[in-house]
Formats: sequence, C-alpha cells, structure tokens
Amino acid sequence: MSKVDFSGRVAIVTGSGGGLGRTYALELAARGASVVINDLGGSFDGKGGSHRMADQVVEEIRSAGGKAVANYDSVATRAGGEAIVQAALDAFGKVDIVINNAGHLRNARFEDLNDENLDSILDVHLKGAVYVTQPAYKIMKKQGYGRVVFASSAAGVFGNAQQAAYGTAKAGLIGLMNVLSLEGKEHGVLCNALLPTANSRMSEAMDPKQLEAFGAQYAAFGEHLGQSYEPAFVTPLVVYLASETCQSTHAIYSASVGRYARAFIGIADGWNGPRLEPASVEEVAANFEQITDTRSYSIPGSLSDEFDIINRNFRK
Ligand code: NAI
Repeated sequence: MSKVDFSGRVAIVTGSGGGLGRTYALELAARGASVVINDLGGSFDGKGGSHRMADQVVEEIRSAGGKAVANYDSVATRAGGEAIVQAALDAFGKVDIVINNAGHLRNARFEDLNDENLDSILDVHLKGAVYVTQPAYKIMKKQGYGRVVFASSAAGVFGNAQQAAYGTAKAGLIGLMNVLSLEGKEHGVLCNALLPTANSRMSEAMDPKQLEAFGAQYAAFGEHLGQSYEPAFVTPLVVYLASETCQSTHAIYSASVGRYARAFIGIADGWNGPRLEPASVEEVAANFEQITDTRSYSIPGSLSDEFDIINRNFRK
C-alpha cells in the first residue's frame, strides 16, 4: 500500500485548536501538508476567544518539524472566512484542502430554542462552512484541484433530541456538500461529508439530564468504548478524504469508535401510481406499505438522476 502523502499540499482546518480538528491537523502536517490552524479559542458554547488554542497546536506541529500557521478569525462571518483563506495564501501561496470542522454546541428542547442560539448555531456550522469554503473554492477551481470535507453529524442526518438548531445546521451541510460536489467535480474539487463520533469537550458538554433523555445506551456509549472513543479514531478517514488518493465525492461517511462506513440518502422503488391522472388518497393509503418498503432502493447521484431512476422504474 503506497503512503498517503501531502507534500506540497496546503490545508485549512477550521476549529483545529482542540478536539477532533487538532488531530486532523497534526496528521496532515505529519504527512507533509502545510496547515492553517484556525481557532477562535472560545468556550464549547461559542463564548469568548483567545489565541492560546491555535498557538499550541502550531507549536506542536512546528516542534515536530512540520509547517503550520495560526489564525484566530471566526468562521461565522464572511470577513472571517475570507481572512482564514487569506492566511493560507499569505503563508503558503495556495489552498488545496478545507476541512470545515469549527463549531459550538447549544442544546435546548425545541420549545425553548431562542433566536440567539438558533442564529449562533446556524452561523458557525452552516454559514461558517460557506464563508470559508467559498473563497477557497474559487482558488481550487482555478487550480483544478481541491478537497473539501464538511463535518456534519449523525444528529442532523439521523436526528438527536434537543438539537434542533444543531441538527438543522448539520443536515444543511449535507445539502451544501451535495451541490458543491456536483459543481466542483469537473474542476477536480471533490467534496464529502463526515459524521464523526468522539470524546471531546463538545461531547462532554452534554449535561447528564440530556444524556438521560437520549437514553441509557447513549450514556453508556463513551464509558464502555474506552480508547476507540478518542478523536484519533476518526482522523484516518478524514485525512484519507482530504488526500489526492481519495477519488470519492458527493458522499457521506461515518467514523465512530473504529467503525468506518458510508451513510447515504436513498430512495425506495416505491409504488408507481397511474400516469394519466393523479392517484387518489385512498389508493395512496392502500399502497402505503409498498411506498414505505425500503428493501429495494436507489441512491440518486443528483436531482436529474432521480428522474432517470423514476423513468427506468416505470418502464420495468
Ligand atoms: P470541539 O469543541 O473540541 O472543537 C470545535 C473547535 O472549533 C473548538 O476548538 C472551537 O474553539 C472552535 N471554534 C468554535 N467556534 C469557532 C469559530 N466561530 N471560528 C473558529 N473556530 C471555532 O468539538 P469537537 O467534538 O472536536 O467537534 C469538531 C466538529 O465535529 C464540530 O463541527 C462538531 O459539531 C462535529 N461533531 C463532533 C462530534 C463528536 O462526537 N465530538 C459528533 C458529531 C459532529
């Protein structure tokens, strides 16, 4: 197996002053990438800020012989996103890789979700990914090469109680990845989304009452898995997705306690109703079992691909 190498590549890892992002940045740098260590340095819920977190990771990389610069801008504003990409250009002259990882957590039951928390979560996770990726994408498109990873979450793709804002933002990243991967493919820009699970200050921030609400299995998850719950178990998949070796695009991958797997949005073959007139409500009711049957399904590669699938199924 040939070594996955990043010599000559320039990577931006947002929120890499700690947690999962730090491990991605360390591994990329150890494999030859020049890395922008972006981190606002605030608390797990997005308050405050400091240079300390990003500086420490830069120091760690440099003392191991790697190349890194710190950046302290917030991903949550357009100006911040542009400044992060500019930091890569100033220090290393280009951008090949963006790992959209920065974020914070503010959980609440849906009825308690207020505008401040809704905006703050959508800004950092969803709009933040747009703000950083857009200026980087323009550079990638021109140079004909790029890799973008979006840190989504099982909370958005599968759901998690008390995370309405977070789940919405994380599911939105899947939409962003779906579209950007289609636009970027012909320019050599490949995009994938990640569903990680690991022990971090963010996962520790779940209060016991919330864990109780999520169920005993969830609470036991971390305790019984020991070492495999560490961020290092997510890192290999992310670094692979950021590499030239990886040709995957337009896909979602889960990395959870040492299990690596593709997640996907599929469409069941369903029930083909009459074509010359709409089905009646009663016909839908009568065929609902077949409509919901997921034993036979497709994974459309785009909206128009779904039309092709429907047409093929009608012709069967
Ligand atoms: P973390 O809190 O350790 O890391 C997030 C980092 O982003 C922090 O270092 C923080 O300072 C930084 N950050 C926050 N707001 C920022 C901003 N506006 N601009 C720049 N940096 C900012 O949390 P963790 O667990 O490492 O999370 C990393 C990513 O993975 C997040 O997007 C999170 O939502 C996602 N994720 C994590 C899961 C887990 O099990 N730990 C599960 C699913 C998704």
